[in-house]
Order: sequence, then structure tokens, then C-alpha cells
Amino acid sequence: MTGPLIIVNLKAYAEGTGEQATRIAAAAREVAEESGAVIGVAPAYTDLGIIARDYDVPVYAQHIDGVTPGAHTGHVTAEQVRAAGAFGTLINHSERRLTLAEIEASLTAARRCGLQAVICTNNVATTAAAAALGPEYVAIEPPELIGTGVSVSKADPGIIERSVEAVRRVNPAVKVLTGAGISTGECVKIALGLGTDGVLLASGVVKAQDPAAALRDLVSLL
Ligand code: G3P
Repeated sequence: MTGPLIIVNLKAYAEGTGEQATRIAAAAREVAEESGAVIGVAPAYTDLGIIARDYDVPVYAQHIDGVTPGAHTGHVTAEQVRAAGAFGTLINHSERRLTLAEIEASLTAARRCGLQAVICTNNVATTAAAAALGPEYVAIEPPELIGTGVSVSKADPGIIERSVEAVRRVNPAVKVLTGAGISTGECVKIALGLGTDGVLLASGVVKAQDPAAALRDLVSLL
């Protein structure tokens, strides 16, 4: 994949579940095709397989557990999401936080299965720590802005700049995403201008009346 990466996290939103999830995946595929942008989706596990099978978009799990296949009731392994067609996985989302040891174990599991790893972080210090582990991406998302519609690009550009700086210092091979309240092409443009490699967002697309139109706006200034 080349160019900025946009990942739409469907979370556990009713508007991003079942048929609604496939509608968003279809919109992502359509807008990616017409714009050349790279747009991935992170559906619930229950929708992951069908989206990976029927829609030509990079599919991310929202979380994986750092365990190997075996007696782990209620866990989800990297092997399982890989077999269902996942391309990558989020790790340590603010709504699914892990300990440092668990983050490392999930990352090891992702590597074992060839999944692209996106470690989510909540501040500059955790971004630096995550970068030291060497995932493909870290995604800095100030928790207080998540789901508010107030864009990190506009409300807290400093955290993006400081995170990008920290990652370059610790491990320049790691790419940086940012998220929280991102909903327009302008937010994406500002984030990229601050040195990121893309964005991670949810409500701006999932809760939009017309997800395809919301995605078109997001890629409009690329
Ligand atoms: O994973 C994306 C996320 O936490 C940001 O959510 O709704 O503010 O775009 P949202």
C-alpha cells in the first residue's frame, strides 16, 4: 500500500454492524477506487469475514489477544482473524486498552501471522513506547476528543507534532496515524501536513447519513 492510509473503525456502532457494515465497506471500496486513496475498515469480528471475502478493501481487526491457538475461551487469536481475511489489526485502542506486556504479546501474534499492526496510543509518552516496539503504525488519539466531532487536527495539533517527533526519534521506520473527531478533508490535510501518514476515524463516517459522501470529503484534498 502506498499513500496516506485512512482506516474507518466501525467499533460496536449499530450503524456499523451487519448490513450497515457491508454498506460502509462498499462505500470505502467505491471511494478508494475513484480516488486512488487507501481506505481500510475495522469491523466487528462478526462482520470481518464477510467484508474481507466480498469487498476489496484492507480489513483490520479491532483487537487481537496475544495468545496462540488453544484453550483460551473468549479470546480472539491473530490466526483466527488472519484466516477470516484480515489484513491488519488495531492493538490497544483507547476503548480496548491493554498493558504494555499485552501490547507486546498482541504485536508478536500479529507478526507471527503477517498482520499489519496499528498500535493505538493516548499521549506522546505512550506513542514513543509503542514506536519502540516497532509496529508498522502507531495511531495517536487523544481520548477526550474521541467521538466528540471535535477534530484533533484543529483542537490539539501540538500532540500530533510531538507524537510525530517522538516516533522519528525512537523508530523512524514506524508510520504515524492520528485520530479523534476527524470528519473532513481539511482535518486529513492538516494531519498529513503535521507529518502523519494517515488517519484513524469512526463516527464521522459510521454515523454519517451517506458514508460514501463522508469518505469523498475525507479524500477530497489529498
Ligand atoms: O478509532 C477511531 C476513533 O477512536 C476515533 O473516533 O469517532 O472520534 O472518529 P471518532
